[in-house]
Amino acid sequence: MRIYVTEDYNAMSRRVANILSAQVILKPDCVLGLATGSTPVGAYKQLVEWYKKGDLDFSQVRSINLDEYVGLAPTHDQSYRYFMQSNLFDHVNIVPANTNVPNGLAEDAAEECRRYNEVIHTLGPIDLQLLGMGHNGHIGFNEPSDVFELETHVVNLTETTIQANARFFASADEVPRQAMTMGIQTIMQAKKVLVAVSGKDKAEIVKKAFTGPVTPNVPASILQMHPDVILVGDKAALSLL
Ligand code: F6R
Repeated sequence: MRIYVTEDYNAMSRRVANILSAQVILKPDCVLGLATGSTPVGAYKQLVEWYKKGDLDFSQVRSINLDEYVGLAPTHDQSYRYFMQSNLFDHVNIVPANTNVPNGLAEDAAEECRRYNEVIHTLGPIDLQLLGMGHNGHIGFNEPSDVFELETHVVNLTETTIQANARFFASADEVPRQAMTMGIQTIMQAKKVLVAVSGKDKAEIVKKAFTGPVTPNVPASILQMHPDVILVGDKAALSLL
């Protein structure tokens, strides 16, 4: 595993954007596994800036997002599809049909997960998977559990995650209780994994995930077994490593 320690959130974002753009430049038709949340916002902003300067071309890139809330329309401002459109896709020349996010409004969420798995099998393996990490060690919406779930599946969100995400909704009551997420096996099959972390509040879980035992109770700990992981974090998030 390679670790890059940066001064602060902005420097972390630039480094993450450096690595994503290097992937796009080296393999213009690459498959990017993308994440939402607060961590990658700065990196996406940087990619948009470089695109506008003419330094990046997304016209052949395919993307597969990690997850989506069950029950939120793509136009809901807290849906992950909306997040991707507003933070990245609407501002670069990626082809809309080449972007993939589970459909939160699918009538049958389990069936939608099966469809998403097929998309992943057709496009994959993912060349570079970007991940953030939850305070409980979740990656995507793979919450602490007794087993590592393999492929895209429906999850019941834990109280910790609901509370953590409540900041984006009017109240915790409005946070959806279920989500669809890419499974751990799919994440582990990515050729390269890029984990981004920021802030002192992540320091404890970063230490647990990368130096503690590998266990489905800390889903991110499985990344210790991946042959090509890059961890980029600001010094606050990496302070306990
Ligand atoms: C988002 C995702 C989540 C987040 C994690 C960290 O697509 O899959 O696992 O990466 O919840 O979120 P932030 O970045 O908001 O701390």
